[in-house]
Amino acid sequence: MKQFDTQILNPEDGISLAVNALLEGELVAFPTETVYGLGAIGLNPDAVAKIFRVKGRPQDNPLILHFAEPAAMLPYIAEMSPYFEPLTNALMPGPLTLIVQATESVPHEVTAGLKTLGVRCPQDATALALLIAIPGGLPLAAPSANLSGQPSPTIAQDVYEDLQGKIPYILDGGASRVGLESTILDLTDPMGLRILRPGFISEELIAAVLDAAGLEYHFANAGPSLKSTETPKAPGMKYRHYAPKARVTILEGQSVEERVEAFARWYMATEAESKAVYGSLEFAQKIASSDLQQDITVFTPNGEEDPMLAQAASLFRVFREADRKGIKELAVEAMCEGSIATAYMNRLRKAADGSVQSSGAISSGV
Ligand code: TXA
Ligand code: MG
Repeated sequence: MKQFDTQILNPEDGISLAVNALLEGELVAFPTETVYGLGAIGLNPDAVAKIFRVKGRPQDNPLILHFAEPAAMLPYIAEMSPYFEPLTNALMPGPLTLIVQATESVPHEVTAGLKTLGVRCPQDATALALLIAIPGGLPLAAPSANLSGQPSPTIAQDVYEDLQGKIPYILDGGASRVGLESTILDLTDPMGLRILRPGFISEELIAAVLDAAGLEYHFANAGPSLKSTETPKAPGMKYRHYAPKARVTILEGQSVEERVEAFARWYMATEAESKAVYGSLEFAQKIASSDLQQDITVFTPNGEEDPMLAQAASLFRVFREADRKGIKELAVEAMCEGSIATAYMNRLRKAADGSVQSSGAISSGV
């Protein structure tokens, strides 16, 4: 594989260098509001193939095409769903990916041989500026810019750690606002609408948009989340993801007091040289005023917005910080309500792999 002296660029002077590299068939990492992406010109099969090599990504895992605007998606969509227009009007640009029927013009390298295609229009200003600067409205094929198996990157430094030497440029747009990958909504399933991956755009919000448009619909996976017995249809969801090297335990409980109680039980029962805990500011303050804070790192969310959004947005950053610090055991506060809870708990459950601590009896991981 070609070696690069990877540069982190600020968007002001980086976009034109990035566009030139992309047009020469190289890969460029760029920020989005969800997570950082690793982009290649989506119609250049050799460039797209590089994405798989650089990430160590399994060949059967298709990529999402990113566009500057929904209208630019139309040439790649074989059969128009009645839901496409209202959803793109209301929710794009934004953290949503729609699965549509693909035309023949989409390279197999992008779809991994499927007849369907994921399309997305990101909201992040740098991502949009990059997409707009690419001549001819060409889309970028882009997965998350991590090595396969690592948590998705939410700051430029995360990308650098995974991909330094392997790509020429990383555009630095600061921390990703949402911090969890886009909601994936499948519009091609005859059984109904299907959320393949929960994200910031909730099922309730999608339903509200379709109600407002006066359309009939139903969700094939009724209920707000994928049932654990249901096999996810997004090929990527079957791979191990999102997990730091530390063992992750979920601290469950209906109230913050119960979750602090769960933490106390976990703290007493867990022997490790390096333990850490992550939760909301409220949760961290309650721990700080207890006597359970010796020999433990307490991670807290960044940002002053909605506390639950902040907690979700910092999850992957904390996973990576825990790895940098060599943490062996990481306890993470669960989230029980709010529109981001489904997506947050989906990522957290995958990382925890069954290890849960409640304020009552202990149930350890499988
Ligand atoms: O927020 C995001 O979506 C980020 C940013 C960079 O846009 N991208 C991202 O890409 O998360 P990636 O490749 O890490 O995850 C894409 C997921 C995978 O689970 C993949 O299997 C699924 O989307 N996917 C892609 N095309 C699909 C298709 N045609 N049918 C079903 N699932 C598909
Ligand atoms: Mg990914």
